[in-house]
Amino acid sequence: MGTGRSFQRPSSRLRVLAFWAAIALCTLYLLHPGFGSDSSVFVGHHNTPPLGHPHAAKPRPRPVQFDFRRYHGGKAGAGNKERADAVRQVMKRTFWKYRKAAWGMDEVRPVTGGNRTSRNGWAATLVDTLTTTLMMGLEEEFMLALNYSIHELDFSKAEDLVDPFETTIRYLGSLVSTVDLLDAGFTNFSRPVEKKDRDALLAQALFLADKLAPGFDTPTGMIWPRINFTSGVGCREEEKDRPYPHFEHATIGPARAGSNWLENMALSRLSGLKIYGENATKAWKPLVYTKWVEEWPGLIDGPWDIMTGTPFDHHRSWGAGHDSYYEYLIKAHIMIPSDPHSGKYRDRWLQAVKSTREHLIFQGRSVDGDTEAHHWLHQWRNGWLINEMGHLACFTGGNWMLGGAYLADSSIVSMGAELVKACRAVYAATETSIGPEYWQWIPADRDGAYAPQSEGQEQQLQELGWWITDARYMLRPETVESYFYAYRITGDKKYQDWAWEAFVAYVKATKAPFGYAEVRDVTMPPGEDNREDLAESFWGAETLKYLWLAFCDEDVANLDEWVFSTEAHPFRIQP
Ligand SMILES: *[C@@H]1O[C@H](CO)[C@@H](O)[C@H](O)[C@H]1NC(C)=O
Ligand SMILES: *[C@@H]1O[C@H](CO)[C@@H](O)[C@H](O)[C@H]1NC(C)=O
Ligand SMILES: *[C@@H]1O[C@H](CO)[C@@H](O)[C@H](O)[C@H]1NC(C)=O
Ligand SMILES: *[C@@H]1O[C@H](CO)[C@@H](O)[C@H](O)[C@H]1NC(C)=O
Ligand SMILES: *[C@@H]1O[C@H](CO)[C@@H](O)[C@H](O)[C@H]1NC(C)=O
Repeated sequence: MGTGRSFQRPSSRLRVLAFWAAIALCTLYLLHPGFGSDSSVFVGHHNTPPLGHPHAAKPRPRPVQFDFRRYHGGKAGAGNKERADAVRQVMKRTFWKYRKAAWGMDEVRPVTGGNRTSRNGWAATLVDTLTTTLMMGLEEEFMLALNYSIHELDFSKAEDLVDPFETTIRYLGSLVSTVDLLDAGFTNFSRPVEKKDRDALLAQALFLADKLAPGFDTPTGMIWPRINFTSGVGCREEEKDRPYPHFEHATIGPARAGSNWLENMALSRLSGLKIYGENATKAWKPLVYTKWVEEWPGLIDGPWDIMTGTPFDHHRSWGAGHDSYYEYLIKAHIMIPSDPHSGKYRDRWLQAVKSTREHLIFQGRSVDGDTEAHHWLHQWRNGWLINEMGHLACFTGGNWMLGGAYLADSSIVSMGAELVKACRAVYAATETSIGPEYWQWIPADRDGAYAPQSEGQEQQLQELGWWITDARYMLRPETVESYFYAYRITGDKKYQDWAWEAFVAYVKATKAPFGYAEVRDVTMPPGEDNREDLAESFWGAETLKYLWLAFCDEDVANLDEWVFSTEAHPFRIQP
């Protein structure tokens, strides 16, 4: 890998040339009339590293975080302590309810107090929320979970086949990130975490990564959909779960191939063992360095045949199955700028964003003069423009604001802000003030695949300009995740208010005797029979973490020092 000519070191003469070219470019960049002049968004520019941080990264030329200090009289910023504390209390309650009813199980059943084994029986809730309790300064809670993770967690055995995607983002990512946070001196605990406990946690991460290793045993290096931990081999899903049952080989969506990189590169950095990052780099290489013609450059077809490295169907999307491949392209570029592929990751992300703006983002038709014509993110499937969006795709707005700010492209930041606004619109319109799992609309000036299917949907279309096709709220984080990025990048307090609205609505609709439960129908009033007895680990790992981060001191997990994984586990940016 990385032996291509373009990665060779430039000769010294070339380096001198490159130096002067860079100076010239920087000057041009600063003189450019468009620089920082977009009035609809304000991208912060500051050069002071955050104070009081033992491992503050060197300031980079283009910080993405808004300069809160400059605009708040030199104080840390506009963080809202009361709101942050309210979120922290909900995390506390989430933890103790789980602790009492389902300690060591993957999930508590929030309505009945039962438990659920959904992630191979490795205490998913407890492990996935390690980084949240650590960052929030919940000392007792973190110490209990740390102790369990070191002494009782046993990755040698697994309930069911192991899904390397879920296992990497929820378990491996959390363990690695916790070590990274501890090394950065992130805790404000009364007693420091002992070095031997930190080492034991890293050892657990390495053990798990080695159990996941057979996942990469394919001719292409793309990852198997499942791994059998007993036999130690990669395999397909069980028959009933197979997306393409009659297809000869195992298949995966781009998100599975592309969501190993941050976790494994961080593990390689912390352990000094390069193999983890190398395998993860290989796993998404067929997508990044594609040898297939792309009709819309950067927007890849999926899913893929893992044995031949061929896309065999024509889905293009930023939603389920594809999402975190795009998410990780720009985050990989930001996390390790010195990686030999870093420029390629950036270019592929920029290509995808450009193609998405040309082919997948269109305004919805305004039904009467009152409904606002939002910018919706469409999908493409075998020649059809899919006029449907899911909650998962709401991460896109925040991701574009992050990438746009980092690359100093204010038009990408603005379009990201439009997408954030559209996701907020579906929240603001429902009975619970929570957005649904899926919704559809009529594109303004072209054909989409879907039209309203019932009188109820027709009525929603007339009233709102769009209609709901799946009314559940599954405790997902993507909308508040985007509010967090939008706030940290623009400094606009409106996003804090939106995050607060969402938080209040979540608690009202999801609070249950043993935690917080999924909502059956966001268009119906909150209440006992409007809850599902389910709560996935990302409620504590992501949703509550992003909400808390939207309100706490903005120097905490500064976006110029940390990159968040697709499960909201932060990794340090390597200078
Ligand atoms: C999990 O639920 C089972 C019954 O479904 C019960 O026997 C077991 O004690 C529960 N485990 C915990 C830790 O509460
Ligand atoms: C640690 O930080 C949290 C969150 O800011 C705060 O609520 C808590 O009181 C702090 N704990 C200590 C021991 O300072
Ligand atoms: C830590 O875990 C061990 C082994 O499960 C247990 O014996 C011990 O009581 C735990 N310590 C704390 C402080 O919870
Ligand atoms: C790395 O990938 C190879 C296949 O290319 C596999 O055999 C090996 O077990 C993997 N190792 C790790 C640590 O992932
Ligand atoms: C996993 O491998 C073991 C040992 O080869 C085998 O007995 C078992 O059936 C496999 N499990 C599944 C679900 O395929």
